[in-house]
Amino acid sequence: MARRRIIAGNWKMNKTPTEAVELVNTLAGLVKNDDVDVVYCVPAIDIVPVGAALMGSNVNLGAQNFYIEDKGAFTGEISAPMLKDAGVKYVIIGHSERRDIFGENDVMINAKVKKAFASGLSPILCCGESLALRKAGVYKEWIARQIKWDLDGVSADEVKKLVIAYEPIWAIGTGETATADQAEEVCKMIRDQIAEMYDAATAEEVRIQYGGSMNAGNAAELLSKPDIDGGLIGGASLKEDFGKIVNA
Ligand code: 13P
Repeated sequence: MARRRIIAGNWKMNKTPTEAVELVNTLAGLVKNDDVDVVYCVPAIDIVPVGAALMGSNVNLGAQNFYIEDKGAFTGEISAPMLKDAGVKYVIIGHSERRDIFGENDVMINAKVKKAFASGLSPILCCGESLALRKAGVYKEWIARQIKWDLDGVSADEVKKLVIAYEPIWAIGTGETATADQAEEVCKMIRDQIAEMYDAATAEEVRIQYGGSMNAGNAAELLSKPDIDGGLIGGASLKEDFGKIVNA
């Protein structure tokens, strides 16, 4: 079964509600592609207006985070059922910025993956190594361990619906992209790891993205690799270039 390509924009902490709707309208004619799942992972406050602006389009609504409880005394947080009710389909979990700046560990990330599935959301689970770990030559072991911890207790049927994003931290927002070969090496390793943890059929279905300075110029080469099924795009998702990545 051929895997369907998935191109997701991670808007990070960018765009006010007014600006967000403007961006949706700017991109509207540029991101049409019936062969690709297109996703905008927008700031929490933009979810409702962007959802309304995307009505009737091919673009899926995505979020960047949530907390693992359904409701209650968790000041400042939003829950998975709230995202679901607002029309969110995909949610990013375990981005390196959440791990490094907000102290999220693999125990929390694992709980979020399970909660997302239980709430009917599709997780985009992020993994990736720092420059120090790459230089030390232990990046594959590091990523294999992240995957193992983050998917603890997650079923094969769920993993078939999972998206994994390989994002080397040294390539995020730096303009330094992993080469297509470097990205493919790790994406293939992740697929092999899923085969080992589950089975070959599950590994064949899980979709794996590359993320880290992906842009209109390098997307086609990265996406031509057999184990790279899409991209998670930061900076370039806020520009008209995003349309070129969707159609790369
Ligand atoms: P950039 O595309 O800006 O490097 O960001 C990648 C990223 O972190 C997407 O989640």
